Amino acid sequence: MSLRAIERIETSRLLLRQPTAADAEAIFKRYASDAIVTEYLGWPRHRSIADTFAFLAFSDAEWATWPVGPYLIASRADGRVLGSTGLAFEAPTVAATGYVLARDAWGLGYATEALAVMVGVAREVGVHRLYALCHPANPGSIRVLEKSAFTLEARLPRHAPFPNLGTTEPQDCLRYARTFP
Ligand SMILES: CC(C)(COP(=O)(O)OP(=O)(O)OC[C@H]1O[C@@H](n2cnc3c(N)ncnc32)[C@H](O)[C@@H]1OP(=O)(O)O)[C@@H](O)C(=O)NCCC(=O)NCCS
Repeated sequence: MSLRAIERIETSRLLLRQPTAADAEAIFKRYASDAIVTEYLGWPRHRSIADTFAFLAFSDAEWATWPVGPYLIASRADGRVLGSTGLAFEAPTVAATGYVLARDAWGLGYATEALAVMVGVAREVGVHRLYALCHPANPGSIRVLEKSAFTLEARLPRHAPFPNLGTTEPQDCLRYARTFP
C-alpha cells in the first residue's frame, strides 16, 4: 500500500481515490441503485442520479471538513468502479468505516484489501478508534471485519433503521472496532 498521497492510494489490485462528479453514473449504475447490494446498508438505495449527486456533495463536504472522507474503490488494472469505502469522522480521533462493492466484484477479497487501506489511513491521520456497524444477518461483512482483526464489542439492540430492508423497525447492530495507540 502506498500512502504517498492520501486522496489516491494504490494496492496490488485496487485504486482508492476521492470520488468526483465524473463518477456519478458509474456509482449509480454499478452499486448504489442495486437492491441486492444495498440491502444491508445504512443509506437508502439511490432511486435517481440526483441521489448520487447528493452523495457526491456530502463527500466533498466531508473531505473539506476532515482529513479524508468517502473513497471510491476502482480496479487498478482498468479504472473500472468496483465500489466504495471511506472514513466517517465523529471526532478527530474517532471514525467509522464501511464498504460496498458491485455484485460482480464480490468474493475476490477486495473488501478485505480496501479495509486494510482504511485501517492504514486511519492510523496515518491520527484516528485512535475505528469502528464499523454491521447487520447481524450480513455474514460476508462480519467475516471481512473478523479477518481484518476487528473485535466484536457489542450487539446493540434496536440500534438503527436499515432503509432498504422494507421495514421501519430499528434493527440490532453488531459493533466491531479496532483501536490504535
Ligand atoms: C460484504 C462485502 C463488502 C464483501 O466483499 P468481498 O470483497 O466479497 O469480501 P472478501 O472477499 O474480502 O471477504 C468476504 C469473506 O466473507 C465470506 N463470506 C461471504 N459471504 C458469506 C456468507 N454468506 N456466509 C459466510 N461467509 C461469507 C467469504 O468467504 C470471505 O471469507 P474468506 O476469505 O474467509 O473465504 C460485499 O459482499 C458487499 O458489497 N455486500 C453488499 C454491501 C454490504 O453489505 N456491505 C457491508 C455493510 S456493513
